[in-house]
Amino acid sequence: MSRNQDGLNAFRVNCTHQGFPVTRVGKVLECELHGSQFDPATGEVLTGPAGRPLLRYTAEERDGGIFVTAQP
Ligand code: FES
Repeated sequence: MSRNQDGLNAFRVNCTHQGFPVTRVGKVLECELHGSQFDPATGEVLTGPAGRPLLRYTAEERDGGIFVTAQP
């Protein structure tokens, strides 16, 4: 999850290449299995081999909490 001027961003942590978990490394989300990198603000691919952005969830703040909705 990250926050920017547009609000909260929540993504599935699994890389879209082969599903290995991504982690925050400096200013990017990185998959250490094959090196794909993703933009933490948008989930877009910065460096392959992944070809699709991270799956995005709807996230909102209300009533003092953060709510994330997973779409089927
Ligand atoms: S599983 Fe993430 S780059 Fe291959």
